[in-house]
Amino acid sequence: MILLVTGGCGFIGSNFVRFQRAQHPDDRLVVLDALTYAGNLHNLDGVLDASAADPAAVTLVRGDIADAALVEQVLRDHQVEAIIHFAAESHVDRSILGPGEFVRTNVLGTATLLEQARAAKVARFLHVSTDEVYGDLGPADPPFTEQTPLAPRSPYSASKASSDHLVAAWHHTWHFPSLITRCSNNYGPYQFPEKLIPLMILRALDDQPLPVYGDGMNVRDWIHVEDHCAALDAVLRRGREGEVYNIGGNSERANLAIVRRILELCGKSEALIRHVTDRPGHDRRYALSIEKIERELGWTPRRTLDEGLAATVAWYRANEPWWRTILSGDYRTWYERNYHARKAVHS
Ligand code: NAD
Ligand code: TYD
Repeated sequence: MILLVTGGCGFIGSNFVRFQRAQHPDDRLVVLDALTYAGNLHNLDGVLDASAADPAAVTLVRGDIADAALVEQVLRDHQVEAIIHFAAESHVDRSILGPGEFVRTNVLGTATLLEQARAAKVARFLHVSTDEVYGDLGPADPPFTEQTPLAPRSPYSASKASSDHLVAAWHHTWHFPSLITRCSNNYGPYQFPEKLIPLMILRALDDQPLPVYGDGMNVRDWIHVEDHCAALDAVLRRGREGEVYNIGGNSERANLAIVRRILELCGKSEALIRHVTDRPGHDRRYALSIEKIERELGWTPRRTLDEGLAATVAWYRANEPWWRTILSGDYRTWYERNYHARKAVHS
């Protein structure tokens, strides 16, 4: 299979590229990524154009999914057969500060990609979405199922819900061979340290205050990114066209419980916790039923949160150069300084 991975330089996309290389070494992977602040070539260290002698190495195209001419060219030049679509603006707090880019990338970008993929007769299109499109739950509410009506409440989740609707419309109108997954909160290696878990780990390691929004009792369901990647692989290869599959970790926790556990794993005091002003419109709880994917595709999350969190803290401890270049901003110029030069040597 020749698979286009949009957003493959981000957190989940890069983990997925590594997972695919290990599981399906005969497939060809092409990454399309605009390298926004969230895209980092170091996330693909060791797999990107690994060597001239390795034709199975991953190809990178730097570009925007909202650029129709570029997308058309990538699909044609690489004879793309399937697409897994990760590229998005993904952080709720940023969507509150500036929603415009979320509408441009998540809505217009997805529409552009869908239209070019349809024209190119791409045979499979997996849209990677989020449980946040379902809205908010009270403490005693049953978890979201695939039938729960969409009721997004942040600019981020509203833009993702819009893209989900577009994907469903392309399937309904043109029988476009698409599938949608909606996953809960991911954590693991290579996550940009603006999201709760990596932010708290890095601040704890550096003895900095840990900012907890409001009372810290908002609940999320947490899944290790490798479990998410395994679920995506199952849906991509064996899911039923036109269907939605929820993906979750069966691990609901209050934010404060996560933060306390991170401090414990880092050997730091709870005195570092600071309760700060709440996020506007902060969703209280997300929870997912994953009965459908377990029943239809035989996938289930393998890692417990406790074990996965310990492994994640160990990864950030062992990969300090990776996150130091992010904190210093250095990773943003690395493409210009190294990637072109390296490509020139190999071509
Ligand atoms: P991320 O922010 O780490 O990475 C996003 C990637 O997309 C980056 O590499 C960025 O450069 C790229 N990108 C952004 N705009 C682009 C554009 N216009 N054209 C091309 N590339 C562009 O995000 P993530 O956490 O890896 O999430 C990936 C996907 O999974 C997103 O669609 C997100 O909505 C979804 N998701 C994330 C989570 C989570 O917990 N992180 C949970 C469920 C679903
Ligand atoms: P986040 O990782 O931003 O994911 P999302 O908002 O998409 O679920 O946040 C997870 C939870 O942690 C959410 O309830 C907001 C909270 N949070 C904090 O309390 N402090 C922080 O500094 C951040 C980034 C998040």
